Amino acid sequence: QQKDLAPTPPMGWMTWNFFADNIHEKDIREMADAMVALGMVEAGYNYIFIDDGWQGGRDNRNNMIPDPAKFPSGIKALADYVHSKGMKLGIYSDAAPLTCAGYTASLGFEEQDAKTFASWGIDYLKYDYCHAPKDSATAVARYTKMGEALRKSGREIVYGVCEWGQLKPWHWAAEAGGQLWRTTYDVRDKWKNLGDQENAEGIIDILDINADLHAYAGPGRWNDADMLVVGLYGKPGPSGDMGGVGMTDTEYQSQMSLWSIMASPLIATNDVRNMNEATRRILLNKEVIAVNQDPLGKQAERKINDGTWNVFVKALENGDYAVAILNRADKTQNYSIDWSALGLGGRYEVRDLWEHKTAGKGKGWKGRVQSHETKLFRLRKI
Ligand code: GLA
Repeated sequence: QQKDLAPTPPMGWMTWNFFADNIHEKDIREMADAMVALGMVEAGYNYIFIDDGWQGGRDNRNNMIPDPAKFPSGIKALADYVHSKGMKLGIYSDAAPLTCAGYTASLGFEEQDAKTFASWGIDYLKYDYCHAPKDSATAVARYTKMGEALRKSGREIVYGVCEWGQLKPWHWAAEAGGQLWRTTYDVRDKWKNLGDQENAEGIIDILDINADLHAYAGPGRWNDADMLVVGLYGKPGPSGDMGGVGMTDTEYQSQMSLWSIMASPLIATNDVRNMNEATRRILLNKEVIAVNQDPLGKQAERKINDGTWNVFVKALENGDYAVAILNRADKTQNYSIDWSALGLGGRYEVRDLWEHKTAGKGKGWKGRVQSHETKLFRLRKI
């Protein structure tokens, strides 16, 4: 496991929730252009992750090839283009004969595929676990095999384990070579799962699983809470119906706050070419991103969880603390807290990272929190 490959949580944009497998190199180039033009790359979103659906099978020497209709110029040309923009390129495969969406995958071809990815200039592999036996021994063996193949590939490739948390990858994925691992089933563009979809989660469902795993996170070993659905508004695009009903901007802002303080990768999946102002404001908030990318690499601990209020604390490298206060209730309410309830003694100056201004000084905070809103503060000792 090479921890220097992802010293802070990876950031970027992923094809899946907007395009599903209806991907095309032209769209991906346009996303790269838009990410540069709108300041996303400068803000830290420097990866483009190609998800499932790029594969066109194998050639007569068993080398993986892209679908020629979707990637007529090939993946290497796309990687060169993305690199020329100062960005990195991720790709996707699966530890079985077929991927989740039924495309050619890497079981039995780990070394050959890792070499192919390296020869194309790939910087990241998301390695999924569909069509594979649901036992830990098999998962560890298969993920380790690809981890070793990547290490021997001749290129530094970040390794994202995507087993959805069922086999507790926080116990073994780093050992298998991974720098991050998904902790839950797939995120959908909704606040809460109403039991209407299998293998899919709302923001709150993911939160409740991922929050308890804070002890396993650190530089080069991240709990991956899946993509930011910010800005999808229930309209995923060419992917068709991904089962998201859409959320309010307040809820999207909550996802950004919570994923940031949990040191989850920040991976957008909206149509970057057509972002509205609210989406930009959420995804490009540099003070919030700094909480996520803080070099100390701590995942916040959820110190208060009383059904209505969730309060998270994350220690930062310069001695400050990030604090998130989530109102889970369906109504706007007042809240008041003494920082000592979080184990933080003394007096602090509180900066509101969404309002970009001081929200008070002293031993605590009180104020109004909208339904499903998350306040994100930075506390500096005074
Ligand atoms: C799984 C993963 C998703 C996505 C799809 C692709 O469901 O969890 O993130 O990669 O497969 O088919």
